[in-house]
Amino acid sequence: MIVKSFFLETYGCQMNEYDSGLLESLLVAAGLKKAHDEKSADLVILNTCSVRHKAEERALGRIRSVAGAPGQKEIAVIGCMAQRLGDQLLSENKNVKYVLGTDNFYRLAEILKSGNGSPVVDTSCREEPLDLVTSGTTKVSSYVTIMRGCNNYCSYCIVPYVRGRERFRPPEKIVEEMRLHAASGVNEIWLLGQNVNSYEYNSLDFSGLLQYLLKESSLPRIRFLTSHPKDLSDKLIDIMAGEDRICGGIHLPLQSGSNSVLKKMNRKYTAEQYLQKIRTLREKLPSVIITTDIIVGFSGESEDDYQATRDLMNEIEFNSAFMFRYSVRSGTKAEEFGDDVPEEVKLSRLDDLIRFQKDISERKMAAFVGSRQEVLIEEPARQDSGDARGKSDGGINVVVKNASDKIGELVNVKIISSSYTTLVGELTSG
Ligand code: SAH
Ligand code: SF4
Ligand code: F3S
Repeated sequence: MIVKSFFLETYGCQMNEYDSGLLESLLVAAGLKKAHDEKSADLVILNTCSVRHKAEERALGRIRSVAGAPGQKEIAVIGCMAQRLGDQLLSENKNVKYVLGTDNFYRLAEILKSGNGSPVVDTSCREEPLDLVTSGTTKVSSYVTIMRGCNNYCSYCIVPYVRGRERFRPPEKIVEEMRLHAASGVNEIWLLGQNVNSYEYNSLDFSGLLQYLLKESSLPRIRFLTSHPKDLSDKLIDIMAGEDRICGGIHLPLQSGSNSVLKKMNRKYTAEQYLQKIRTLREKLPSVIITTDIIVGFSGESEDDYQATRDLMNEIEFNSAFMFRYSVRSGTKAEEFGDDVPEEVKLSRLDDLIRFQKDISERKMAAFVGSRQEVLIEEPARQDSGDARGKSDGGINVVVKNASDKIGELVNVKIISSSYTTLVGELTSG
């Protein structure tokens, strides 16, 4: 079959979203048509995630449902699960034709153009980071990957196995891509990596990279994701505090508040060290927005360990948190530790923590009512055609009344109400 149109579906994190954007521009440049639904496409591409068992189950379920739908469709599985399962996915389902891993997904365009239609599996690893530059977007806010892979080997995590070792993009390429985005109307760039704070290119560290990017581009907003607490330096905090164009929001995954669990997770910091980083951040940047990730029910987590997490979250009061129950990943160090917290205990801890954090988030969001925020308007809001949605400098979602004609602009907003996830505001002159 000659593939003329594709439908691309993305699971997992921002790194996958970035890769999907890259692949989409390559496929369109190769003359393929982007279909707006699965039905009208010859090829369905699934960009997959392996971080938890559920993420893989969902992707496997999608392979089956696409294959079961009427019409002969080919399926390409790319990304982290493709990297992990490789060949196995071909035998999983006869409609799966292409399996391309995290360093090879970009080859799909050339394979479709020049291939003879036979199945292709490629999960080989590259020494250099993939360094294609995306050709621009129609968005207001875009991602730019600055590194690939991870060297941290947190004991529970599959990412180093599916994304490979850390490889850093040269600063000139990052600037080139930022400029392309800026030229197509983007006003905010997210610098992406599994651990951006470990960036290092010929003696240029992450703080140095930020300073270089500020000098070389005039973009009004630069953000970054994710920061590993062990590598968050005072120098970086100073840059965040001193440079308006570096946004005042940070995602700093804590994972657990218990030192014995943190040690077993191989996170390389203690609860006290983490708390100290939070204190420094808030001292130097009082308006900073801090978000986090937490895992409950990790191997050996006792009730006291769980309480330590709850207590630390109570003390820190994160603006928001993503909370997960531990999912064993095969081939990781933690697989050897055993999965000894019963499922119902994991679930009840997760449920308790989500409720607990919701109260904190609600309270913190309510404190913004009456304040003024600078918001970058990204898109029309869902419910009402006159309203629009954007983000504050700290990264909080804000729905702005009667602002649907301001997409792409930075506007001043007075906050009038809040929920635990979103602020609502009105345009104001300053
Ligand atoms: N590089 C980032 C995040 C990667 S994965 C970092 O270092 O923080 C995103 C989140 O998924 C992690 O922060 C962690 O909270 C969660 N996670 C990773 N592996 C997991 C697992 N095996 N079970 C449950 N949650 C997991
Ligand atoms: Fe996974 Fe840890 Fe690397 Fe994040 S830092 S991707 S949690 S191994
Ligand atoms: Fe998932 Fe891969 Fe991201 S495992 S979280 S899509 S790096």
